[in-house]
Amino acid sequence: MTRQATSPIVVLGSGYTGLVLHRMGASQGRTIHATSRNPLENLAVIPSGQCLQFDLEQPLTWEHIPPGADLIWCFPATPLEQVQAFARTLDAPARRMVVLGSTSAYDAPSQSTEYPPPWIDESAQIDLTKPRVQGEEYLREHHGAIVLRVAGIYGPGRNPLDWIRSGRVSPSRKYVNLIHVDDLAAICLLALEKGKPGEAYNVSDGTPRTWNEIYTTAQQRWGVPTAAVKENSSTGKRISTAKLRTELGYVVKYPDLHEALALIESSDKV
Ligand SMILES: NC(=O)c1ccc[n+]([C@@H]2O[C@H](COP(=O)([O-])OP(=O)(O)OC[C@H]3O[C@@H](n4cnc5c(N)ncnc54)[C@H](OP(=O)(O)O)[C@@H]3O)[C@@H](O)[C@H]2O)c1
Repeated sequence: MTRQATSPIVVLGSGYTGLVLHRMGASQGRTIHATSRNPLENLAVIPSGQCLQFDLEQPLTWEHIPPGADLIWCFPATPLEQVQAFARTLDAPARRMVVLGSTSAYDAPSQSTEYPPPWIDESAQIDLTKPRVQGEEYLREHHGAIVLRVAGIYGPGRNPLDWIRSGRVSPSRKYVNLIHVDDLAAICLLALEKGKPGEAYNVSDGTPRTWNEIYTTAQQRWGVPTAAVKENSSTGKRISTAKLRTELGYVVKYPDLHEALALIESSDKV
C-alpha cells in the first residue's frame, strides 16, 4: 500500500468544497479530518473526533494539525507572511499538500482581447501581484505543494441558474469555465495521490461556455426570464485541462453543464 493511501488527510477550511471533500474521503475509508475556525458552529455535521480547530491567523491552532497528515488547503492562501510561517512548521516534503488556487491567477492586466480567447494552459502568465497567487506560488516552489487552478465551483446549493435569476450574471459573450464540486473533490483526492509535487494543474470541466449560451439554455429549458444582453468587452478565458486529463488521468463525472444543472434543479427543489 502507498503512503498516500494510509496517511491521514486534513482538509484545511471546510466550507462548500471542504465538506464535500471530507464526505468523499470518509466514504472511501480514508482517515480524514476537517478544520474550521469555529468547529462547534460550522462542523456540526461531522463526528467530533474528525473536527479540528484551525485558523491561519492564530498560530496556537496550528498545533492541532496531526504530524505527518497530508493537507488539502481549501481557502485562499493569504496573507503571505502567515502562509510562510505556518508552512515552516510543517514536515514537508515528507507530507503531501494540495492547494486550491483559482483560474483568476491568469487574469493579468495585459490579457489578450482576441475572440474567442486563446486556450490557457499551466504555462500561461500568472498575476503575481495577487496576494493569493503569491501564497500559492510560495507553497508550490518552497514546499512542493500541488496547486490546482480551479474554475468557478458549482453544485447543489451553488446553482449557476440562481446566479442568472438574481442578476448576479447576465448574458454576454464572455467565456466562463466551471467545475462541479463532486468532480473538484475527486480531483483533490487524486492530486494528493498522483500529483507531482511543485506542479500546477488547471481544474475545469473542459468545456468553456459563453454566458449567452448558458443563458439561452436556461431560458429554453427552465424558463429563466429574459434579461438584456450586456455589452461586455471582457472575453473571459478558455481553460485547458489537457494536463489534468493526461497526467492525472481524470475523466470528469459532469462534463455536460446542462445535464448537471438539470440534476441540481431537481435536487435543490426537494
Ligand atoms: N467559489 C468559486 O467559484 C471558486 C473558484 C475558484 C477557486 N476557488 C477557491 O477554492 C477554494 C474552495 O472554495 P470554496 O468556495 O469551497 O470555499 P469556502 O466555501 O469559502 O470555504 C473555505 C472555508 O475556509 C475557512 N477559512 C477561511 N479563511 C480561513 C483562515 N484564514 N484560516 C482557516 N480557515 C479559513 C472558512 O471556514 P470557517 O469559517 O469554518 O473557518 C471557509 O468556509 C477557495 O480557496 C476558493 O477561493 C473558489
